[in-house]
Amino acid sequence: MQVELSNNVERRNDYTFKYNEHFGRHGWLRLTPAYSVKLVREIILKDCKKGDLILDPFSGTATTGLVASEMGFSSRLFEINPFLIWLGNVKCQNFSANELEKLQAKFDQCLEDVAMSDNNWVPRIYNIERWWHSYTLFILASIRKNLVETFGEPNGNNYPNLVWVAFSRLIIETSSATFNHISMSFKESTTQYGLEQIKSLFSVIFSYIITSSKAQLLGNSQVILNNSRDFQFASDLLFDEVITSPPYPNRISYIRELRPYMYWIKFLKNGSDAGQLDWESIGGTWGTATSNLKKWKPTNNNLPERLYAVCEKIKGSEDKNSEVMSSYVHKYFDDIYSHLRNISRLLKPKAKLNYIVGNSSFYGYFVDTEKILSESMRELGYKKIVIETIRRRNTKKGLYEFNVKAVWN
Ligand SMILES: C[S@@+](CC[C@H](N)C(=O)[O-])C[C@H]1O[C@@H](n2cnc3c(N)ncnc32)[C@H](O)[C@@H]1O
Repeated sequence: MQVELSNNVERRNDYTFKYNEHFGRHGWLRLTPAYSVKLVREIILKDCKKGDLILDPFSGTATTGLVASEMGFSSRLFEINPFLIWLGNVKCQNFSANELEKLQAKFDQCLEDVAMSDNNWVPRIYNIERWWHSYTLFILASIRKNLVETFGEPNGNNYPNLVWVAFSRLIIETSSATFNHISMSFKESTTQYGLEQIKSLFSVIFSYIITSSKAQLLGNSQVILNNSRDFQFASDLLFDEVITSPPYPNRISYIRELRPYMYWIKFLKNGSDAGQLDWESIGGTWGTATSNLKKWKPTNNNLPERLYAVCEKIKGSEDKNSEVMSSYVHKYFDDIYSHLRNISRLLKPKAKLNYIVGNSSFYGYFVDTEKILSESMRELGYKKIVIETIRRRNTKKGLYEFNVKAVWN
């Protein structure tokens, strides 16, 4: 195994989601741990030849699929979160100029007709008053009612879904959520907006989404529901290239970040569904995950020695949660190991893999994700394993992002 470590690893904002905000469809909705368009482009340019089929088993906001399609490649992406599957498929869809023109006219009319009304449906998000001022919420609920009457609820690959993507952006822009940290947090107070203010914001967001939908995508990319730990995905497709960023072992919960969208667009109904979905996800840590971890038993017994050593250190820390944190890290790598074993049956001989991962730290002990991942790959028969350091992360000292590269057999 070869390790490439640059002496001067910079923060490199161009290798984060921040870079994506100015790239049309890539900027529609933010998911903090999305990776950079530039990074994916560079990997495709380096690794892929015409006609290669690309796989991303952890789709997130479908960055890989959208970049692949923009560059004329086809791809399949797997994801466990139904909201992200829906969003990813809308992002990777082509729309005709005629469709977009009609949709814009219908949207303008709908917005003009919005009437404030009482007793509209609002999502059952815990502590909703922390997210939106009660008057702002009243306006959003009235707008939502009009959208449903005009366009119907979001479904599949229907072009009115662009309206619902714009609505998702509207609810986040009018909320007290802030994204200054690695994960989402709240401003001190909520803001009371007026109807005209919200309508004009919605109109601006929608125009931006319509404008960015005009560019025609050259490749075909689809996001498919699949648990990438076990792979129930049945298909004859074999892939030439894997480009992906799995969750990191850092206790960030995607469900926590995505709650507002998921509730408003009706992909989540209550807190227990949220907890269950997070438990199914690799690295999940929300709701019931903690009590489930206490009962969890390893499924693989040949994980890298380095993992057992760091889990012992974490467990020995003097903290009331040290045992559960140790199980959290152990389970994360147990899941990743199962994933790496199961994904190999979808790969062509000599398929290239790129896993963008970050290390983490628990009670001052570093979890060297890149090394544990590469040692797991070696154990499972992957070849030519190289660790490239991409950037230093903005958070705690000693945290980096890596590309762990390998070739299948
Ligand atoms: C780091 S994010 C991927 C971000 C993506 N590269 C982007 O640019 O948006 C990891 C994703 O893996 C998904 N995920 C977690 N566990 C999964 C599983 N078992 N099967 C499929 N997807 C999973 C999460 O829902 C999350 O969207």
